Amino acid sequence: MRVLSGIQPTGRFHWGNYFGAIQQYIQLQGERDNAFYFIANLHALTTVRDRQLLKQYTLDAALDLLALGLDPNHATLFVQSDVPEVSELCWLLMTVASMGLLERCHAYKDKKAKGLSADAGLFTYPVLMAADILMYDSDTVPVGEDQVQHVEVCRDLAASFNHQFGETFVMPKAKLLDTSARVPGVDGEKMSKSYGNTLEVFEEPKSLRKKIMRIVTDSRPMEQPKEPETDHLYLLHSLFANHEQREAMAAIYRRGGFGYGEVKKALADLAVDYFAEARERRLVLEAQPERVREILGDGAATARKKAGEVLLRAQRACGVK
Ligand code: ADP
Ligand code: TRP
Repeated sequence: MRVLSGIQPTGRFHWGNYFGAIQQYIQLQGERDNAFYFIANLHALTTVRDRQLLKQYTLDAALDLLALGLDPNHATLFVQSDVPEVSELCWLLMTVASMGLLERCHAYKDKKAKGLSADAGLFTYPVLMAADILMYDSDTVPVGEDQVQHVEVCRDLAASFNHQFGETFVMPKAKLLDTSARVPGVDGEKMSKSYGNTLEVFEEPKSLRKKIMRIVTDSRPMEQPKEPETDHLYLLHSLFANHEQREAMAAIYRRGGFGYGEVKKALADLAVDYFAEARERRLVLEAQPERVREILGDGAATARKKAGEVLLRAQRACGVK
Protein backbone atom coordinates (compact mmCIF):
# COMPACT_ATOMS: atom_id res chain seq x y z
CA MET A 1 0.00 0.00 0.00
CA ARG A 2 1.45 3.35 -0.99
CA VAL A 3 -0.15 6.72 -0.35
CA LEU A 4 1.13 9.53 -2.56
CA SER A 5 0.24 13.16 -2.98
CA GLY A 6 1.80 16.35 -4.25
CA ILE A 7 1.33 19.97 -3.32
CA GLN A 8 2.31 22.90 -5.51
CA PRO A 9 4.70 25.52 -4.14
CA THR A 10 2.82 28.56 -5.41
CA GLY A 11 2.86 30.72 -2.27
CA ARG A 12 2.67 30.53 1.50
CA PHE A 13 0.27 27.88 2.82
CA HIS A 14 -3.01 29.18 4.19
CA TRP A 15 -5.55 27.74 6.63
CA GLY A 16 -7.47 26.16 3.72
CA ASN A 17 -4.39 24.27 2.58
CA TYR A 18 -3.73 23.13 6.13
CA PHE A 19 -7.20 21.96 7.17
CA GLY A 20 -8.19 20.85 3.67
CA ALA A 21 -5.06 18.89 2.80
CA ILE A 22 -1.84 19.09 4.84
CA GLN A 23 -3.36 18.03 8.16
CA GLN A 24 -4.84 14.97 6.45
CA TYR A 25 -1.56 14.07 4.71
CA ILE A 26 0.07 14.14 8.11
CA GLN A 27 -2.60 11.88 9.58
CA LEU A 28 -2.02 9.41 6.72
CA GLN A 29 1.69 9.03 7.28
CA GLY A 30 2.87 5.76 8.76
CA GLU A 31 5.76 3.76 7.38
CA ARG A 32 8.36 5.90 5.65
CA ASP A 33 8.16 3.76 2.55
CA ASN A 34 4.38 3.80 2.34
CA ALA A 35 3.69 7.53 2.41
CA PHE A 36 5.23 9.62 -0.38
CA TYR A 37 4.67 13.37 -0.40
CA PHE A 38 6.33 15.72 -2.81
CA ILE A 39 6.54 19.41 -3.61
CA ALA A 40 5.29 19.76 -7.18
CA ASN A 41 7.68 22.44 -8.46
CA LEU A 42 7.44 21.28 -12.09
CA HIS A 43 3.70 21.79 -11.97
CA ALA A 44 4.15 25.16 -10.27
CA LEU A 45 6.28 26.23 -13.23
CA THR A 46 3.06 26.51 -15.24
CA THR A 47 2.16 29.54 -13.10
CA VAL A 48 5.25 30.78 -11.22
CA ARG A 49 7.64 32.34 -13.75
CA ASP A 50 10.22 33.76 -11.41
CA ARG A 51 13.31 31.72 -10.61
CA GLN A 52 13.96 33.17 -7.15
CA LEU A 53 10.33 32.98 -6.17
CA LEU A 54 9.94 29.35 -7.24
CA LYS A 55 13.05 28.38 -5.27
CA GLN A 56 11.82 30.28 -2.25
CA TYR A 57 8.32 28.77 -2.39
CA THR A 58 9.80 25.28 -2.75
CA LEU A 59 11.99 25.70 0.32
CA ASP A 60 9.12 27.34 2.23
CA ALA A 61 6.85 24.42 1.39
CA ALA A 62 9.41 21.96 2.77
CA LEU A 63 9.89 24.00 5.96
CA ASP A 64 6.14 24.44 6.42
CA LEU A 65 5.35 20.74 5.92
CA LEU A 66 8.09 19.62 8.30
CA ALA A 67 7.16 22.21 10.92
CA LEU A 68 3.51 21.17 10.71
CA GLY A 69 4.37 17.57 11.54
CA LEU A 70 5.35 15.78 8.37
CA ASP A 71 7.87 13.40 9.86
CA PRO A 72 10.72 12.12 7.66
CA ASN A 73 10.74 8.91 9.72
CA HIS A 74 7.13 8.25 8.83
CA ALA A 75 6.92 9.62 5.30
CA THR A 76 9.18 10.24 2.32
CA LEU A 77 9.29 13.95 1.47
CA PHE A 78 10.94 15.10 -1.75
CA VAL A 79 10.94 17.72 -4.48
CA GLN A 80 9.34 16.62 -7.76
CA SER A 81 12.22 17.78 -9.98
CA ASP A 82 14.74 15.80 -7.91
CA VAL A 83 13.33 12.69 -9.57
CA PRO A 84 14.11 13.25 -13.28
CA GLU A 85 12.66 9.82 -14.09
CA VAL A 86 9.25 11.43 -13.80
CA SER A 87 9.77 13.61 -16.87
CA GLU A 88 10.82 10.55 -18.87
CA LEU A 89 7.80 8.57 -17.77
CA CYS A 90 5.67 11.59 -18.62
CA TRP A 91 6.81 11.29 -22.25
CA LEU A 92 5.96 7.59 -22.44
CA LEU A 93 2.48 8.35 -21.10
CA MET A 94 2.10 11.28 -23.49
CA THR A 95 2.25 8.82 -26.39
CA VAL A 96 -0.91 7.07 -25.14
CA ALA A 97 -2.77 10.26 -24.10
CA SER A 98 -5.46 11.29 -26.56
CA MET A 99 -5.91 14.98 -27.31
CA GLY A 100 -9.62 14.66 -26.56
CA LEU A 101 -8.98 13.38 -23.05
CA LEU A 102 -6.67 16.29 -22.26
CA GLU A 103 -8.94 18.84 -23.90
CA ARG A 104 -11.64 17.90 -21.38
CA CYS A 105 -9.40 18.59 -18.37
CA HIS A 106 -10.57 21.60 -16.40
CA ALA A 107 -7.28 23.47 -15.84
CA TYR A 108 -6.85 23.81 -19.61
CA LYS A 109 -10.55 24.07 -20.45
CA ASP A 110 -11.17 26.88 -17.95
CA LYS A 111 -8.28 28.92 -19.27
CA LYS A 112 -9.42 28.42 -22.87
CA ALA A 113 -12.98 29.37 -21.91
CA LYS A 114 -11.68 32.68 -20.55
CA GLY A 115 -10.14 33.30 -23.96
CA LEU A 116 -6.61 33.00 -22.58
CA SER A 117 -3.94 31.17 -24.52
CA ALA A 118 -2.63 28.09 -22.76
CA ASP A 119 0.82 26.60 -23.18
CA ALA A 120 1.59 22.92 -23.74
CA GLY A 121 2.70 22.67 -20.10
CA LEU A 122 -0.77 23.47 -18.88
CA PHE A 123 -2.35 21.23 -21.54
CA THR A 124 -0.23 18.22 -20.56
CA TYR A 125 -0.31 19.00 -16.83
CA PRO A 126 -2.48 15.92 -16.09
CA VAL A 127 0.01 13.65 -17.89
CA LEU A 128 2.84 14.82 -15.64
CA MET A 129 0.53 14.28 -12.68
CA ALA A 130 -0.18 10.74 -13.94
CA ALA A 131 3.57 10.12 -14.17
CA ASP A 132 3.93 11.37 -10.55
CA ILE A 133 1.39 8.82 -9.42
CA LEU A 134 2.35 5.79 -11.55
CA MET A 135 6.07 6.37 -10.96
CA TYR A 136 5.90 4.89 -7.46
CA ASP A 137 3.26 2.16 -7.87
CA SER A 138 0.97 4.34 -5.76
CA ASP A 139 -2.42 2.92 -4.93
CA THR A 140 -4.00 5.70 -2.86
CA VAL A 141 -3.93 9.35 -3.87
CA PRO A 142 -5.45 11.75 -1.30
CA VAL A 143 -6.62 14.86 -3.17
CA GLY A 144 -9.15 17.66 -2.99
CA GLU A 145 -12.24 17.56 -5.19
CA ASP A 146 -10.59 19.68 -7.89
CA GLN A 147 -7.95 17.01 -8.51
CA VAL A 148 -10.20 13.97 -8.78
CA GLN A 149 -10.57 14.44 -12.54
CA HIS A 150 -6.79 14.33 -12.89
CA VAL A 151 -6.57 11.06 -10.99
CA GLU A 152 -9.23 9.67 -13.36
CA VAL A 153 -7.05 10.73 -16.30
CA CYS A 154 -4.16 8.94 -14.64
CA ARG A 155 -6.24 5.77 -14.43
CA ASP A 156 -7.19 6.11 -18.12
CA LEU A 157 -3.56 6.49 -19.13
CA ALA A 158 -2.46 3.55 -16.98
CA ALA A 159 -5.22 1.38 -18.47
CA SER A 160 -4.37 2.39 -22.00
CA PHE A 161 -0.63 1.79 -21.52
CA ASN A 162 -1.33 -1.57 -19.86
CA HIS A 163 -3.67 -2.46 -22.70
CA GLN A 164 -1.13 -1.62 -25.42
CA PHE A 165 2.00 -2.98 -23.79
CA GLY A 166 0.89 -5.47 -21.14
CA GLU A 167 0.44 -5.07 -17.37
CA THR A 168 2.90 -2.38 -16.31
CA PHE A 169 1.28 0.05 -13.92
CA VAL A 170 -0.53 -0.35 -10.63
CA MET A 171 -4.04 1.14 -10.90
CA PRO A 172 -4.31 4.01 -8.38
CA LYS A 173 -7.43 5.32 -6.64
CA ALA A 174 -8.24 8.85 -5.50
CA LYS A 175 -9.05 9.26 -1.83
CA LEU A 176 -11.22 12.32 -1.49
CA LEU A 177 -10.03 14.55 1.31
CA ASP A 178 -12.64 15.58 3.83
CA THR A 179 -14.31 18.51 2.12
CA SER A 180 -16.42 19.38 5.13
CA ALA A 181 -13.18 21.13 6.06
CA ARG A 182 -13.82 23.67 3.25
CA VAL A 183 -12.35 26.76 4.80
CA PRO A 184 -13.85 30.21 4.12
CA GLY A 185 -11.61 33.21 3.55
CA VAL A 186 -11.75 36.66 5.14
CA ASP A 187 -14.57 37.64 2.74
CA GLY A 188 -16.65 34.51 3.38
CA GLU A 189 -15.82 32.99 -0.05
CA LYS A 190 -13.70 29.82 -0.28
CA MET A 191 -10.22 30.65 0.99
CA SER A 192 -7.87 30.64 -1.98
CA LYS A 193 -4.68 32.35 -3.08
CA SER A 194 -6.40 33.34 -6.29
CA TYR A 195 -9.10 35.27 -4.38
CA GLY A 196 -6.60 37.12 -2.17
CA ASN A 197 -8.65 36.28 0.92
CA THR A 198 -6.22 34.03 2.78
CA LEU A 199 -4.97 33.78 6.34
CA GLU A 200 -1.52 32.18 6.34
CA VAL A 201 -0.47 29.37 8.65
CA PHE A 202 2.87 30.99 9.44
CA GLU A 203 1.74 34.60 9.52
CA GLU A 204 3.33 36.59 12.36
CA PRO A 205 0.89 36.72 15.32
CA LYS A 206 0.70 40.52 15.22
CA SER A 207 -0.21 40.84 11.57
CA LEU A 208 -2.44 37.74 11.80
CA ARG A 209 -4.45 39.46 14.53
CA LYS A 210 -4.78 42.54 12.33
CA LYS A 211 -6.00 40.47 9.40
CA ILE A 212 -8.50 38.65 11.60
CA MET A 213 -9.88 41.94 12.91
CA ARG A 214 -10.54 42.91 9.28
CA ILE A 215 -12.61 39.80 8.48
CA VAL A 216 -15.79 40.91 6.71
CA THR A 217 -18.97 40.47 8.77
CA ASP A 218 -22.62 41.35 8.20
CA SER A 219 -24.25 44.40 9.73
CA ARG A 220 -26.49 42.42 12.07
CA PRO A 221 -27.71 44.52 14.99
CA MET A 222 -25.96 43.53 18.21
CA GLU A 223 -29.01 42.16 19.98
CA GLN A 224 -30.16 39.88 17.14
CA PRO A 225 -29.48 36.14 17.61
CA LYS A 226 -27.78 34.38 14.72
CA GLU A 227 -27.50 30.81 13.42
CA PRO A 228 -23.79 29.98 13.96
CA GLU A 229 -23.39 27.37 11.19
CA THR A 230 -24.04 29.91 8.43
CA ASP A 231 -21.48 32.41 9.68
CA HIS A 232 -17.95 32.21 8.26
CA LEU A 233 -16.41 33.77 11.36
CA TYR A 234 -17.97 31.02 13.46
CA LEU A 235 -16.75 28.37 10.99
CA LEU A 236 -13.21 29.72 11.21
CA HIS A 237 -13.41 29.72 15.00
CA SER A 238 -14.60 26.08 14.90
CA LEU A 239 -11.43 24.99 13.10
CA PHE A 240 -9.39 25.75 16.19
CA ALA A 241 -11.87 25.39 19.03
CA ASN A 242 -12.30 22.28 21.14
CA HIS A 243 -15.76 20.86 21.73
CA GLU A 244 -16.56 23.04 24.76
CA GLN A 245 -15.26 26.24 23.16
CA ARG A 246 -17.31 25.53 20.04
CA GLU A 247 -20.50 24.87 22.01
CA ALA A 248 -19.97 27.99 24.10
CA MET A 249 -19.50 30.10 20.96
CA ALA A 250 -22.57 28.57 19.30
CA ALA A 251 -24.61 29.45 22.41
CA ILE A 252 -23.38 33.07 22.26
CA TYR A 253 -24.50 33.28 18.62
CA ARG A 254 -27.93 31.84 19.35
CA ARG A 255 -28.40 34.14 22.34
CA GLY A 256 -27.47 37.30 20.45
CA GLY A 257 -26.28 40.53 22.04
CA PHE A 258 -22.61 39.98 21.21
CA GLY A 259 -20.20 41.89 19.00
CA TYR A 260 -18.18 40.34 16.20
CA GLY A 261 -15.09 41.95 17.70
CA GLU A 262 -15.26 39.51 20.64
CA VAL A 263 -15.49 36.53 18.28
CA LYS A 264 -12.55 37.82 16.26
CA LYS A 265 -10.47 38.23 19.39
CA ALA A 266 -11.32 34.69 20.52
CA LEU A 267 -10.47 33.37 17.04
CA ALA A 268 -7.12 35.21 16.99
CA ASP A 269 -6.19 33.86 20.45
CA LEU A 270 -7.00 30.29 19.44
CA ALA A 271 -5.28 30.47 16.04
CA VAL A 272 -2.09 32.03 17.40
CA ASP A 273 -1.97 29.35 20.06
CA TYR A 274 -2.83 26.49 17.68
CA PHE A 275 0.17 27.08 15.42
CA ALA A 276 2.56 28.24 18.17
CA GLU A 277 4.50 24.97 18.35
CA ALA A 278 4.72 24.69 14.57
CA ARG A 279 6.02 28.28 14.43
CA GLU A 280 8.72 27.37 16.95
CA ARG A 281 9.66 24.25 15.00
CA ARG A 282 9.82 26.26 11.79
CA LEU A 283 12.25 28.74 13.33
CA VAL A 284 14.50 25.90 14.46
CA LEU A 285 14.41 24.31 10.98
CA GLU A 286 15.02 27.64 9.25
CA ALA A 287 18.27 27.88 11.16
CA GLN A 288 19.32 24.43 9.90
CA PRO A 289 19.17 24.61 6.09
CA GLU A 290 21.61 21.71 5.80
CA ARG A 291 19.22 19.49 7.82
CA VAL A 292 16.35 20.37 5.46
CA ARG A 293 18.55 19.68 2.42
CA GLU A 294 19.46 16.34 3.94
CA ILE A 295 15.82 15.38 4.51
CA LEU A 296 14.91 16.31 0.93
CA GLY A 297 18.02 14.52 -0.36
CA ASP A 298 17.14 11.33 1.52
CA GLY A 299 13.56 11.59 0.31
CA ALA A 300 14.67 11.98 -3.29
CA ALA A 301 17.03 9.00 -2.99
CA THR A 302 14.22 6.77 -1.69
CA ALA A 303 11.85 8.03 -4.37
CA ARG A 304 14.40 7.60 -7.17
CA LYS A 305 15.07 4.01 -6.18
CA LYS A 306 11.43 3.14 -6.72
CA ALA A 307 11.18 5.41 -9.78
CA GLY A 308 14.11 3.65 -11.45
CA GLU A 309 12.41 0.27 -11.12
CA VAL A 310 9.09 1.46 -12.49
CA LEU A 311 10.66 3.43 -15.34
CA LEU A 312 12.66 0.38 -16.45
CA ARG A 313 9.52 -1.73 -16.34
CA ALA A 314 7.70 0.80 -18.53
CA GLN A 315 10.63 1.22 -20.93
CA ARG A 316 10.93 -2.53 -21.41
CA ALA A 317 7.20 -2.88 -21.89
CA CYS A 318 7.09 -0.40 -24.77
CA GLY A 319 10.39 -1.36 -26.36
CA VAL A 320 12.67 1.60 -25.74
CA LYS A 321 14.92 -0.58 -23.52
P1 ADP B 1 -5.28 27.76 -3.71
O1 ADP B 1 -6.76 27.69 -4.06
O2 ADP B 1 -5.05 28.72 -2.60
O3 ADP B 1 -4.40 28.01 -4.92
P2 ADP B 1 -4.43 25.04 -3.96
O4 ADP B 1 -5.33 24.84 -5.13
O5 ADP B 1 -2.95 25.10 -4.21
O6 ADP B 1 -4.89 26.35 -3.15
O7 ADP B 1 -4.75 23.92 -2.89
C1 ADP B 1 -3.85 22.97 -2.38
C2 ADP B 1 -4.64 22.00 -1.53
O8 ADP B 1 -5.35 22.67 -0.47
C3 ADP B 1 -5.72 21.25 -2.32
O9 ADP B 1 -5.71 19.89 -1.91
C4 ADP B 1 -7.01 21.90 -1.95
O10 ADP B 1 -8.08 21.00 -1.98
C5 ADP B 1 -6.75 22.39 -0.51
N1 ADP B 1 -7.49 23.65 -0.28
C6 ADP B 1 -7.23 24.84 -0.84
N2 ADP B 1 -8.08 25.80 -0.40
C7 ADP B 1 -8.94 25.18 0.46
C8 ADP B 1 -10.06 25.61 1.26
N3 ADP B 1 -10.46 26.87 1.26
N4 ADP B 1 -10.68 24.70 2.03
C9 ADP B 1 -10.27 23.42 2.05
N5 ADP B 1 -9.24 22.94 1.31
C10 ADP B 1 -8.55 23.80 0.54
N1 TRP C 1 -1.99 19.06 -9.27
C1 TRP C 1 -2.00 18.94 -7.84
C2 TRP C 1 -2.61 20.23 -7.22
O1 TRP C 1 -2.61 21.26 -7.85
C3 TRP C 1 -0.62 18.71 -7.31
C4 TRP C 1 -0.07 17.41 -7.80
C5 TRP C 1 0.90 17.24 -8.74
C6 TRP C 1 -0.47 16.11 -7.38
N2 TRP C 1 1.14 15.90 -8.95
C7 TRP C 1 0.30 15.18 -8.12
C8 TRP C 1 -1.42 15.65 -6.46
C9 TRP C 1 0.16 13.81 -7.96
C10 TRP C 1 -1.57 14.28 -6.30
C11 TRP C 1 -0.79 13.36 -7.04
O2 TRP C 1 -3.07 20.21 -6.08
